[in-house]
Amino acid sequence: MQQEMMRAGIESARFRGQVVVVTGAAGGIGGACALRFAQEQARVACLDIDAAGSEQIAASCRNLGVDAIALPCDVRDSDDVQGAVAAVQAHWGQIDVLVASAGVYSGDPLGDVSLAQWRNTLDINLTGAFLTNQAVAPILMQRRGGSIINISSMAGKTSWPASAEYSASKSGLIGLTRSVAMELAPYGATANAVCPGNTLTGMVRRVSQLIGARDGMTGDEWLAVRARDCPLGRLAQPWEMAGVVAFLASPDSRYMTGQALEVDGGMVMA
Ligand SMILES: NC(=O)c1ccc[n+]([C@@H]2O[C@H](COP(=O)([O-])OP(=O)(O)OC[C@H]3O[C@@H](n4cnc5c(N)ncnc54)[C@H](O)[C@@H]3O)[C@@H](O)[C@H]2O)c1
Repeated sequence: MQQEMMRAGIESARFRGQVVVVTGAAGGIGGACALRFAQEQARVACLDIDAAGSEQIAASCRNLGVDAIALPCDVRDSDDVQGAVAAVQAHWGQIDVLVASAGVYSGDPLGDVSLAQWRNTLDINLTGAFLTNQAVAPILMQRRGGSIINISSMAGKTSWPASAEYSASKSGLIGLTRSVAMELAPYGATANAVCPGNTLTGMVRRVSQLIGARDGMTGDEWLAVRARDCPLGRLAQPWEMAGVVAFLASPDSRYMTGQALEVDGGMVMA
């Protein structure tokens, strides 16, 4: 799986000397981002509610020759988030990049979404990003630079059935990103969102089985339909998101802020 998350042949050192915090680091896209930054010589803090999973990714980062730590963190809990960010500061004395990737997606139709489920999705996908952005923004302001990249979704830009709470959270995340971008701008720091299309991670595989079963298909059949629907004719690999995230943290994107980039093979466009 970690091989699938990485793009081979990256030899750049764009992030040498920088510290990158990734939430949802045990997951497909977050893990790929952690590994990409490690490949490019950053020190990486892997935050996730899944402590064993984030330790595994941190170990893979260390195998790439950089320093990396795993910190258990529930992004719904402000004490957890503040504690994790303080631990990163205590360990390395700086933070240069935040990637907020922790998220959940149920795929349930509107009538089946309980209030508890609505709240939990908003708590993780939107409040979790708010809390991490709020904890890291003052550090970037003081540093007078750096980047925040929030992982939204094509569901933040468009909608389809059975995604009420997910779509609401991801649209909200784009609004949050724009506002954070405005506050960071005077300090030379940027905030942008990435809006992935269907990317082959645990989340998509889980949801494909659920939604596929509702439509009389196997998960793989449902994924094949999604691939056919996509102008580029295929689903994304996690490292394809990580490459765009790294660009948004790099010197090449310093004049971009408040944007929500569709990295979806053309789905929203179509
Ligand atoms: N995979 C896709 O097709 C796709 C498409 C659009 C957007 N996204 C978004 O990308 C992000 C990453 O998704 P993924 O596909 O890698 O999914 P994933 O399920 O592989 O990873 C999500 C990670 O978030 C972590 N997490 C969940 N709740 C948490 C909490 N309360 N605190 C801390 N961590 C928590 C999970 O443990 C997991 O490691 C999510 O925000 C998701 O909504 C994914």
